Amino acid sequence: MIDGKLAICVIGAGRAGMIHARNYAKNVPGAMIAAVSDPVEETARAGAEELGCKYYLSEDQALENDKIDAYVVVSPTKFHVDIVKKLAAAKKHIFCEKPMAMTVDECDEMIKACQGNKVKLQIGFMRRFDEGFCQAKQIIEAGEIGDVVMVHSNTRGPSVPRPWMYDIHKSNGPLAEVNSHDIDTMRWFTGSEFKSVYAIGGNYRCSEAKEEWPDFYDNVVMSAEFENGMQGMLDGAQGVGYGYDAKVEILGTKGIIQLGGMQGQRLVTMKASNNSGIYPLVNSWRDLFKDAYLNEDVSFADAVLNDKPVKVTGHDGKMAVQVVNAGNISIVEKRIVRL
Ligand SMILES: NC(=O)c1ccc[n+]([C@@H]2O[C@H](COP(=O)([O-])OP(=O)(O)OC[C@H]3O[C@@H](n4cnc5c(N)ncnc54)[C@H](O)[C@@H]3O)[C@@H](O)[C@H]2O)c1
Repeated sequence: MIDGKLAICVIGAGRAGMIHARNYAKNVPGAMIAAVSDPVEETARAGAEELGCKYYLSEDQALENDKIDAYVVVSPTKFHVDIVKKLAAAKKHIFCEKPMAMTVDECDEMIKACQGNKVKLQIGFMRRFDEGFCQAKQIIEAGEIGDVVMVHSNTRGPSVPRPWMYDIHKSNGPLAEVNSHDIDTMRWFTGSEFKSVYAIGGNYRCSEAKEEWPDFYDNVVMSAEFENGMQGMLDGAQGVGYGYDAKVEILGTKGIIQLGGMQGQRLVTMKASNNSGIYPLVNSWRDLFKDAYLNEDVSFADAVLNDKPVKVTGHDGKMAVQVVNAGNISIVEKRIVRL
């Protein structure tokens, strides 16, 4: 604790890391930003200078500061497992960004490390903290649309994939980086687990990757059956150009809930060239889910300070990773994959 406040260190001061760091610097009751850590010194220093906090070049250095109580892990996904296990062994509470890890085994190791050391582990599915998503959940639970029959969730982003994503066997590809949120949303709204998936992928925009990385996709469609018999569908796309486009439809036996984006509009045509259309499009996930990121950071601090259960658990993170991996097998092997 520093000055009576929960002292937070953010590991990985990149795009998403700085969202959390700025939240803890100003807007989370009972918490403060003590440090940021990043192996790229200029990134770490720039973050620290902006926020007026310390900076470190590794989690090992940060762990030498025994005033830090809790960590937000926002490094590239493949490093999550080692960092989380190290922090848990040092008895630090952890918020870990999605995707939780690369494999189910890694997720199990992370959960075990946190349980064994009696520290909190929250996963960064911030849509569960978005006001609209929370309202939808309440409407479902109140039975207002009858029984849920199908959840269709899509996320289409403007940014082009980074080259490290091209090898989907190492990166887990867009299903992990883009659609983990949709997978979690579908689990949350159906209240059930994925039973089987069938996915197809295609590369329509990244021609430079086609020859070397034939399995790479920048567009994906996945259909799913849930254990309770409900149906699911997601689609994902990268490099769409026109804006950040995340929507969910929850179809029930007595109605439908439409969440996000362009609802209530007539025919809408969006063009990458000029963002034209009759609805002002949101350009980034940073804007669309600004409040949700803050709400999840507040919720994590509250869970640690008041010893409450976290609202998005390691189990939630692990189940999404399992579905991502099943979807990628389905794309490559062109078959239905049972979980
Ligand atoms: N919840 C969301 O909506 C959301 C949005 C974006 C990213 N993310 C997740 O956050 C994580 C980071 O993504 P990003 O877009 O911010 O990436 P980024 O590339 O912008 O930032 C990552 C940062 O981590 C640093 N880094 C590299 N190796 C590291 C290591 N071993 N230890 C600590 N830091 C290291 C990099 O120097 C970089 O500054 C990913 O897991 C990503 O999936 C989540």
